[in-house]
Order: sequence, then structure tokens, then C-alpha cells
Amino acid sequence: MSITVLLADPRADSRRDLEIMLSRDREVSVVGGAHDRRDTIDLTRQLRPNIVILDGALWSGDSQSIIGEIAEASPDSATIVILDNADLELMRRLIRAGARDCLMRPVSSEDLLSAVRHVSQMTAKQRDVGTQATDTNRSRGEVIAIYSPQGGAGKSMLSANLAVALAKASGEGGKPPRVALVDLNLQFGDIDLMLNLSPQNTIAGLAQKGHGGIDAELLEQYLTQHPESGLKVLVAPSTPQYAESITVYTVEQVVETLRENYDIIIVDTPSQLQDTTLAVLDAAKTVLLLTSLDLLALHKTRTALEMLRQLYPPEKIQPVLNRANSDVGISLADVENVLGVKMKSRIPSDGRIVVRSINEGKPFVIYDAGTPIAKEINRLALEILGLEAPASEEPTKNGGGSFLKKMFAK
Ligand SMILES: Nc1ncnc2c1ncn2[C@@H]1O[C@H](COP(=O)(O)OP(=O)(O)OP(=O)(O)O)[C@@H](O)[C@H]1O
Ligand SMILES: [Mg+2]
Repeated sequence: MSITVLLADPRADSRRDLEIMLSRDREVSVVGGAHDRRDTIDLTRQLRPNIVILDGALWSGDSQSIIGEIAEASPDSATIVILDNADLELMRRLIRAGARDCLMRPVSSEDLLSAVRHVSQMTAKQRDVGTQATDTNRSRGEVIAIYSPQGGAGKSMLSANLAVALAKASGEGGKPPRVALVDLNLQFGDIDLMLNLSPQNTIAGLAQKGHGGIDAELLEQYLTQHPESGLKVLVAPSTPQYAESITVYTVEQVVETLRENYDIIIVDTPSQLQDTTLAVLDAAKTVLLLTSLDLLALHKTRTALEMLRQLYPPEKIQPVLNRANSDVGISLADVENVLGVKMKSRIPSDGRIVVRSINEGKPFVIYDAGTPIAKEINRLALEILGLEAPASEEPTKNGGGSFLKKMFAK
């Protein structure tokens, strides 16, 4: 999760220097620059940054009140002050007024980044404690990312059908869960076609409109409803040239904001591991990692799995085998042996049903609910909702044909 920073400093060259220093940490992103007191308060209110870096040159005289105004504008933003001279008396007053740290010029990038990381960690911890204490019955939605390093693995097919299945399922007390689906294929998204939607708005419009911050009310206007299931969809841009306008910050805000009003957020991702994809994998509670019974897919899946295991706890990554019943000389046992994990789900291959469903924009979990592929995705939806036990596991025989063993031997 990135740390957002607002730079409040009247001198453009000084803001630029600070930005260069902060850019050494990928997790830190500068979301704005303010050149005077009023600008600082306005931008703090709009952007709600994690941290405001406030230069002593920005105020004259009443240093403490600006720190109070920042806290009022955005109670979760923490202030770090940079001073030209070591004035201990002033520093004490600033800390009493609510500043979280004070740095002296000249500031090294190590000191600056260390202060930013430390303050961000401390405020996040305090926020967690506060949230637990005051917000006990307001749960936040859970994010499920559908990912595969292999193009054409079936990510969009699974995302669309799983999201619809979840939206139609009866959750706790018979009430269906509130489900949102985000198409993060920013260049060539196709979820709108798969669900036969005619979107008025896309994530590109939201990124433009929500430049200064996205809230639930704004986001709701950019979602398209899937009439048959009630699912809400944030559609990908209509043309690839808009992809660049969607930043990591937009994606993080979209996901965080959706968590306020939806129980489950499914995100269809592209196979390239770009920074926006990583932002979603970071935010996800579960990553469904799709693979198939083919050597190249298996090879890429193993590499991706190794990388993801370095980043996240093992239970977060749940492999799913697509086209599981294909007779192609590689078995389920081979796949599980090579990857060293059990499959969370095995989705059968059914070209006739899947292709017709995509061509007509009618998700097969509704329109061909009796088919084995629809039954498996509906079962997976119920398992995610805690309403059905995991699929029974056939014992994995000592599979792994000899050519596979050779291919994947370390
Ligand atoms: N279980 C299946 N049985 C039959 N066909 C399938 C199955 N899963 C996917 N397909 C077909 O494979 C093609 C690719 O599926 P899909 O678009 O969902 O993959 P993707 O991973 O989203 O691709 P991309 O990387 O391009 O986004 C589609 O034409 C779909 O019809
Ligand atoms: Mg796709």
C-alpha cells in the first residue's frame, strides 16, 4: 500500500528536490504540491494524504495553528515539519501542536524517507486501533484478484461468471452479498462485452473526475449495473490510449472506496505485472491464480507463484485450474506436483458453452446453470461465501510424467 504525501513549500525548486528524494521509494507517492497556507489546507482536505510535509518557510509567525488546521481538514493526515535551523523551542511547540516529526535542513533522502515511513506506520497502527474500537460492526469488503501470467488463461471468463454467481447467491440471512467487479485490463478490457453492458462511464472518466480524490458517492456514478444479477461493474477504458491516465493512486482509491460499500470486490487483471496490477494484488485478501494443463502456462505459473510467495503469505495465493478436463498429456496430479499446491477449484473445459456465452454476453452461471462448468463456478462462489465446504480432494497420485520432472527439475 503506498504512502501518499503532500508537499507544502512555497519554493518550487525545494518541492522538486523533496519529490526527487521521495521517489527513491516506490511505496511513496507525491500526490500534490502546495505553495501557500490556503493551498495547503485546500489540498489536504481534497487529497487526504497520509502525510503533509510542511516547510517552515510556508508560515509566518503562528506555526502551531496551521498544524491544527491540517488536522481539522483531514484528521488522518500526519504532519512532518522541515525547518531551516535547529530551534529547539520552536520544535517543542510544533510537536505539542500535533506535528509528528521535525527535520532540519539540509535533509538527506535517507532521513526524509525514514521519517515518512516511520510516521506512516505509527499513524496506520493508531488508526487500526481506533477503527477496532469505534467501528466494531462496520465490516469492510474483501478483494479477490483474478490473476494469471498467461494471456487467454480464462481470467475474464472466471471474473465475470464468479462475480455474477456471487451477486446471485444467498449470503447471510438469505440476503445476497453486495458485489462489485473491476475490469483492470486498462488497455483491452472486455468485461462489458462479456456481460452485454452498455456503460455510460468507465474507470478513465473516474480517474479524470476523481483527480483530487475519490469518494463512494462519486464512484457509484461510474459503476454500471448488470441487470440480471445486480452486480456493479467498473468498466475498463473504451480505448487503450486512456490506460496511462489511470495511476496506482486511482486504483488504490477505487479499491479502498469500494470496500466501504461492497462485501466482495472481484478484480479482473491483465497478465502483465504492471504497477496498477501489483496495487490490486497488494490490496487483495485472496489471489486466484489461474493455470491450465499446458507446459508453458505451468512454467509461467510456477515462476509467478514463486514471486508471489515472496511478497505475500502462502494462504493468500489460491491456484485454480482452468480447462481441467482437457486430455493433453498433463494431469491434475502433474500440475499439483509441479506447483506444490492443491487446486482451489478445477474448472472444466466447455468450448461450446463458454464461447456462446461470451458471444451473446450472457454469463453461463445464469443461462446454462446446469452445466458442469457453471456448477463448479457456482460452487466456488458458495465456498467463498463460507456456505459450502471446499471441493472434495481426490488423492493426488504420484504424478508428474518423467518429461515434466525433467522440465521442472531445479
Ligand atoms: N473453461 C473453458 N472452456 C472453454 N473455453 C474457455 C474456457 N476458459 C476460457 N475459455 C476461452 O478462452 C478464451 C480466453 O478467455 P478469457 O478472455 O477469459 O482469458 P483471459 O485470461 O481473460 O485473457 P486475456 O489475457 O486476453 O485477458 C475465451 O475465448 C474463452 O472462450
Ligand atoms: Mg481478460
